[in-house]
Amino acid sequence: MQNKVEEYLDTNIKDIMDQYPQVQDILDSFDIGCAPCTSGTCMMRDIIDIHNLDEQNEKTMLSQIFDVIFPGEKVEIPRIAKEKKAIDSPLSPPLVKLIDEHKLIKRVLVLIPAISEKLDLSKDDNISWVKNIVDFIQNYADKFHHAKEEDILFAHYDQSLDIIQVMLKDHVSGRSYAKSMLEAVEEQNTEKARVNLLKYRDLLTEHIKKEDEILYPWMDRNMDITTVGKMYSQFMNVDTMLPDVPQKYLVMVEEFETLFE
Ligand SMILES: [Fe+2]
Ligand SMILES: [Fe+2]
Repeated sequence: MQNKVEEYLDTNIKDIMDQYPQVQDILDSFDIGCAPCTSGTCMMRDIIDIHNLDEQNEKTMLSQIFDVIFPGEKVEIPRIAKEKKAIDSPLSPPLVKLIDEHKLIKRVLVLIPAISEKLDLSKDDNISWVKNIVDFIQNYADKFHHAKEEDILFAHYDQSLDIIQVMLKDHVSGRSYAKSMLEAVEEQNTEKARVNLLKYRDLLTEHIKKEDEILYPWMDRNMDITTVGKMYSQFMNVDTMLPDVPQKYLVMVEEFETLFE
């Protein structure tokens, strides 16, 4: 029996949900939303490790899942999530730095509904709103922040994992929305600009939430102290190469806030 349990832990979660649809409801009840994920390569063991439920919740969830798979049989539930750090312990400095960078991005995201509501691309100053937001997306969110994730942080992990694939896809989608915003400016198409601004806002709001609450804590639990130090100094190298970026975009965001808050 225990071999079969291990086999299921190393089975693709999508296959398990196809075979046992009730498993999706069990995952949902623990706030683990695998159903909408389109990549579908995570093993059940990865899902449990990544979401880092506390010991009791992990045991309860696995018991419910194995009750569905092996009804009426006694199953010994193994412990999956690594316990290198307490769940509420602070993240290590490289991840705290990325979470700090998210804060400036989130300040732009909350302004986007007000900006898009007022937007009229027949007015010159409105054109500069969109151009400035695209500048922020391309040079702060992307070159300054996503580059750290893609070139340094994600590069340290198995990039074929669903959770990383989903994050990379989000970065690509964000870039295409920014490109469409610039096209909208060229075409003086206010509606197109508005649609892409709002799509960007929705995408990045969810993306940052997933990183802050799930991805970074999981990465942190799987990072040794040598990597923490190395990664932090690599992040500092990026900052040294782009010394004016944080201040420049802080000023831009503050100007937007005086206009739209
Ligand atoms: Fe990201
Ligand atoms: Fe991020």
